[in-house]
Amino acid sequence: MATSQCLFIAVSFLLFVVSFSCPEDCECSLTRASCVMKSGKTDTKLLAALPANLSVLSVITLMTNIEANSFANLTLLRQLIFIGDHISSVSFGAFNHLDNLSALMLDKTLLEVLPAGVFDKLVHLRQLYFTNNKLRKIDKGLLDNLIELEELYLYGNMLQTLPVGLANLQILRMYQNRLTGIPSGCFDQLTKLTELSLHVNYITHLPSDSFIQLQSLVMLMLSNNKLIALPPRIFHHLPNLSKLSLFENQLSLLPVSTFGKMDKLKELWLYDNHLTSLADDLFINVTHLTVLTLSYNKISSISRNAFRGLDKLHKLSLQQNHLSILSENLFSYLGQLRYLSLSFNQIQSLPRDIVKGLHNLTVLKLEMNLLQNVPEGLLDSLAHVQQVHLHNNPWKCDCAISYLKQWMSSHSKVIINSTQVTCSYPTSLLGRSVSTAVTNPSQEWKVIHTQMEVVRANAFLNLSSLVTLIIHQTQISHIDLGAFNNLDHLTRLSLEGNRLERLPAGLFDGLHSLQILVLQSNRLTSVEPDLFNQLVSLKDLQLHHNRLTTIADGTFDHLTQLVKLNLGKNKITNLPLKVFDKLGQLQQLWLYENQLGAIAARSLANLNSLVELGLNSNSIQHLAANVFSALPHLKTLTLSGNLLSTLPQGLLLDLPKLSQLTLYENHLSRLINLSSLRVLILSHNQISSIQKGAFSGLDELTDLFLHTNNISKLGWDVFSNLGQLRNISLHNNRLQSLSPRVFNNLQNLRKIQLHNNSLQQVPSALFHLLPGLTEVSLHLNVWLCDCGILGLQDWLKNHPDKALAPNRVTCHNPPALQGRPILTLVDESLACDAQSAPPVNYTTGLIPLQLNTEGERRDHYILTAARSERTNAVNGEGTQNIAHQTLDPFNTGILIILLLLVCVIVIVTSRNWVKPHTERRDPIMLLRLSPINDAL
Ligand SMILES: *[C@@H]1O[C@H](CO)[C@@H](O)[C@H](O)[C@H]1NC(C)=O
Ligand SMILES: *[C@@H]1O[C@H](CO)[C@@H](O)[C@H](O)[C@H]1NC(C)=O
Ligand SMILES: *[C@@H]1O[C@H](CO)[C@@H](O)[C@H](O)[C@H]1NC(C)=O
Ligand SMILES: *[C@@H]1O[C@H](CO)[C@@H](O)[C@H](O)[C@H]1NC(C)=O
Ligand SMILES: *[C@@H]1O[C@H](CO)[C@@H](O)[C@H](O)[C@H]1NC(C)=O
Ligand SMILES: *[C@@H]1O[C@H](CO)[C@@H](O)[C@H](O)[C@H]1NC(C)=O
Repeated sequence: MATSQCLFIAVSFLLFVVSFSCPEDCECSLTRASCVMKSGKTDTKLLAALPANLSVLSVITLMTNIEANSFANLTLLRQLIFIGDHISSVSFGAFNHLDNLSALMLDKTLLEVLPAGVFDKLVHLRQLYFTNNKLRKIDKGLLDNLIELEELYLYGNMLQTLPVGLANLQILRMYQNRLTGIPSGCFDQLTKLTELSLHVNYITHLPSDSFIQLQSLVMLMLSNNKLIALPPRIFHHLPNLSKLSLFENQLSLLPVSTFGKMDKLKELWLYDNHLTSLADDLFINVTHLTVLTLSYNKISSISRNAFRGLDKLHKLSLQQNHLSILSENLFSYLGQLRYLSLSFNQIQSLPRDIVKGLHNLTVLKLEMNLLQNVPEGLLDSLAHVQQVHLHNNPWKCDCAISYLKQWMSSHSKVIINSTQVTCSYPTSLLGRSVSTAVTNPSQEWKVIHTQMEVVRANAFLNLSSLVTLIIHQTQISHIDLGAFNNLDHLTRLSLEGNRLERLPAGLFDGLHSLQILVLQSNRLTSVEPDLFNQLVSLKDLQLHHNRLTTIADGTFDHLTQLVKLNLGKNKITNLPLKVFDKLGQLQQLWLYENQLGAIAARSLANLNSLVELGLNSNSIQHLAANVFSALPHLKTLTLSGNLLSTLPQGLLLDLPKLSQLTLYENHLSRLINLSSLRVLILSHNQISSIQKGAFSGLDELTDLFLHTNNISKLGWDVFSNLGQLRNISLHNNRLQSLSPRVFNNLQNLRKIQLHNNSLQQVPSALFHLLPGLTEVSLHLNVWLCDCGILGLQDWLKNHPDKALAPNRVTCHNPPALQGRPILTLVDESLACDAQSAPPVNYTTGLIPLQLNTEGERRDHYILTAARSERTNAVNGEGTQNIAHQTLDPFNTGILIILLLLVCVIVIVTSRNWVKPHTERRDPIMLLRLSPINDAL
């Protein structure tokens, strides 16, 4: 640092010390001092040390009393400020000699009373702050000598009365006190008052002349009191008022003449009161108002001219009221309005022109109401709108919503929380965004759980656009002819759960559009043969759970579009031969829980499209072999719960698509025989393991397709009975190992596909005892090229013609040999001694590795007994772990017994299970199981 700078600082310091005497606990500047007085008494030494011509002194003090004449030597003081939460008394004469004082502040003290005359000498005082103390009352005459007082701050005390006099007062802040009322005439001398803050008190009433002399008043705060009513004309002589706050009171009514001419009034705060209505011309005199808040009231009605005169209003807040209806031109006076909130009300509909003319509106809040729609064109005049809140209304998404939907899509940036602008109706669109909902022209009429007994003719005459009519769970036992007249558009008629016993012929005439007719759960004993004649569009007819005993031929003859017919749970004993003759489109026919003893082939002869046939829980004893022969598309056939003791030969012969056959609870002693099955295709399923015996009985099988599944293990004996097998496909699985005996007994095997599995090695004996083998695919496995691979290499070398793409059978491990064709390996590159061989891991079942740890090199056909037992045990565990994905033909409970045997046919049994016989009967030669989700 330069010496000249040092010198300058030292000199400045000296000068400062010389020119001021500032006590230790003070900070002083030329005319101001701020001191901390630590003792409980007035620190006279400190005060004496202060410069005599001080003009501002603030004292943070621990003293409890301000003694008389304490500041007598500081006669030039203009501002004196005390902050001290120990001061609890002020002596008479405390402020003597402070003739020049213009501001005195006593904040946050414990003072409850002030001695009479304590301010008497402060004749030039302009500002008196006596705030946040405990003052209970202002004694008579206390302020009388403060003739120059302009600002009086008394907030935060416990005052119950107001000061009087003080004709020069401009600001009076009395908030946070305990005022309960205002004495009449109390402000009469305050003609210069500009601010009167009386909020946060307990004022319950105001005399009508309270403010009559306050011509200068600019701001009047009356919020947060207990005002219940305002006297008429209370605000009539306040020409300069610009802000009036009345919020958080209990006002229930604003009389028409409340507001006099107030051309300066800009803000009127009325929220959180108990207002229930707004009268015409209530605001006619406050034409310069820009902000009007009326939220959090109970306003349920607003007279149509309530807002007349408010042509400068910018912001109108009416949220959180009880509005349900708004009159047509309510806002038409508010041409300058920018913000309009009507949210959190109960508005059910809006008049068409309610916001018309509000060209400058930028925010429109309509959320949280009961709006189901808006009138067409409602929002068209809002050229400058920036936010529209529409969410949380029960929007009704029928065709009438299309205006709103379109407006929303062309103003998507303006809609706030548009994803929450959702449909509440119809139920099918519940929760869907209005902007994406496909507007559905449907109209629905529901009558549910009523005591209605009769439906009269022409009951729905005026509802010609009805699309859905639902009458459920009523007492209706009779429907007049003509009840459904004029319902040309009806597509769904549901009469479920009533007491109907008969329906008059012709009842449904004219319902040309009807697609669904539900008559279930009534008491119908018969159906007139002509009843459905005009239902040319009908697709779904539900007649179940009635008391029908028969159905006459011809009843369904006009229902050529019918797709579903449910006749279940009736008392039908027999079916006329031609009853279903015209139902060429029918896909589902349910006849369950009737009393059918037999089914004639003729009855089903024309159901060419049938996919599902439910005949369960009848009394069928016999089935003709050809009964289902005309049903080429049948997939599901349910015959459980009948009296069948045999299934005739060839019964399923003509059902190439059958995938589910349910037969439990019959008297069957034998099942369809599949022992002549030749080809079994199980590929493209999710089979993960195959249990022992899964293929038993399929002794004639020549081709077994198991590829593209999740198989990781095969028991050594799963194929042991397939002596005729010629081709087996196991590729695209997860096989990690193969038992050396897995293809034992398969003397006729020609082709084995094993590519794309996870095989590391295969037993060297695997292919040696298969004399007819012509092709083996082994590529795309993770071959581990150590000594254990030598057996495979040997076989590859000796049978170059049998391995498919032998050069693609390459090492995966060790990394050094990755990609190397196994055929080209030389013994020296493999570390062939016992130490270096990898450890045995039984859970992956690598039997050959185990062999090689013992130093054996090739041609081991037979495993020791101990090793094969071990292998089985391990396989058994694995199988249990994945039992739910395992085919087990002898499981109890609901068994999917024949699934593996039949593949196409699922027989669900719960009882009376009989083991398949080995008679050769059905000439089923090829079975294909389309992909199913669960494993076998
Ligand atoms: C005021 O000054 C006089 C003399 O200068 C002194 O005697 C007296 O103690 C002072 N009073 C106070 C309260 O400091
Ligand atoms: C205050 O008094 C001191 C001497 O006591 C004097 O130097 C200074 O100029 C005075 N200041 C004012 C603003 O009168
Ligand atoms: C409007 O103000 C004038 C003058 O203050 C008053 O006479 C009149 O009653 C007021 N009108 C309403 C509706 O308050
Ligand atoms: C809209 O507001 C602008 C100022 O923001 C004003 O100039 C214009 O006149 C207003 N339009 C209407 C129709 O009041
Ligand atoms: C949108 O909705 C969420 C959740 O209801 C709310 O938190 C958020 O404030 C809303 N946004 C606007 C802009 O209203
Ligand atoms: C055996 O295989 C299991 C499962 O793959 C594995 O968790 C375990 O670490 C292996 N054991 C040895 C010794 O490699």
